Amino acid sequence: MSETNLKSIAVLTSGGDSPGMNCAIRSVVRTALGAGLKVYGIRRGYAGLLDGSFEEMNASSVGNILQHGGTILQTSRCPEFLDPEIRKEAFHILKRKKIDALVVIGGNGSYNGAFELYSEHGFPVVGVPGTIDNDIQGTEYTIGFDTAVQTAVEAVDKIRDTASSHARTFIVEVMGRKSSAIALQVGICTGAENIVLPDQGEPDFLQISKDIKRGIQRGKSSSIIICAEGENPGLSYRIQERLKEDHQLDAHVCILGHIQRGGNPTAHDRSIASHMGHVAVQALIEGRSAIATSLVNGKVVELPLEECLKKDNKFNPQMENLAKVLSI
Ligand code: F6P
Repeated sequence: MSETNLKSIAVLTSGGDSPGMNCAIRSVVRTALGAGLKVYGIRRGYAGLLDGSFEEMNASSVGNILQHGGTILQTSRCPEFLDPEIRKEAFHILKRKKIDALVVIGGNGSYNGAFELYSEHGFPVVGVPGTIDNDIQGTEYTIGFDTAVQTAVEAVDKIRDTASSHARTFIVEVMGRKSSAIALQVGICTGAENIVLPDQGEPDFLQISKDIKRGIQRGKSSSIIICAEGENPGLSYRIQERLKEDHQLDAHVCILGHIQRGGNPTAHDRSIASHMGHVAVQALIEGRSAIATSLVNGKVVELPLEECLKKDNKFNPQMENLAKVLSI
């Protein structure tokens, strides 16, 4: 696409919401308006694209939103979009609405949908990584991760207070599906006695019990086990059962859940989201598409979208080792 062809773009947020998505929307809208483009917001992700929920946006549509969590455009998971026929329909809707390019802010599933729109119909798309899981290939960072980690750390600090007062063990389950990123970061930042990660198969119950008992022996007044949720629910309760049955240890379970997805974005999330939204639109203006804005060596750059499609569980052995060394 040449610079002159681009007149009108649309933006949507898709998949699980993440704090900072609003900053990215604001940046996309204002960068596009500044370049003389029309901008449409699409409500509820791909679902809203399919039912024609488009609204033209102006500078005030995105005023006073960057400090708020969630997404003003709302979002959805849209399994229908896995169907090529449905994507064809989406392409025709975009054409009818005279949209020249689409910015998709979301995670892996959202990137896949965007890439298919491009590869099947040649429709120009740009991906902006928005998910608390920090599990997108190619980018060091996804918008929302820092806020989610901060929320979880604050929650675990509170749990530590009560755990210490009662000399208890807590198993705290954090989000991230198959990604280790939130669990590792939260584990390090809260001094967890053990971190259970999803990619390491069956948890080592004996090791967990040894870590807890060692702490008790050296006078620790509490133990925290951070457990990444993984793909199958219920792991925290299984750990609780095994600790009780095999090692005579009582533990309480606390599942943090969706609290990690809400809340005001941190300055880091606001800044990265603002940069990424800008780079996304700038790429389209300069005629590039099928790219994803990515953080590489601390800088926001463009990478081919195709390279960013695979999930990356962000397991980092160095971080895991650090957590072990510091939790004695
Ligand atoms: O992908 C973000 C995420 O919060 C995951 O960490 C979690 O497993 C999942 O979404 C929960 O999805 P939902 O809100 O649809 O239940």
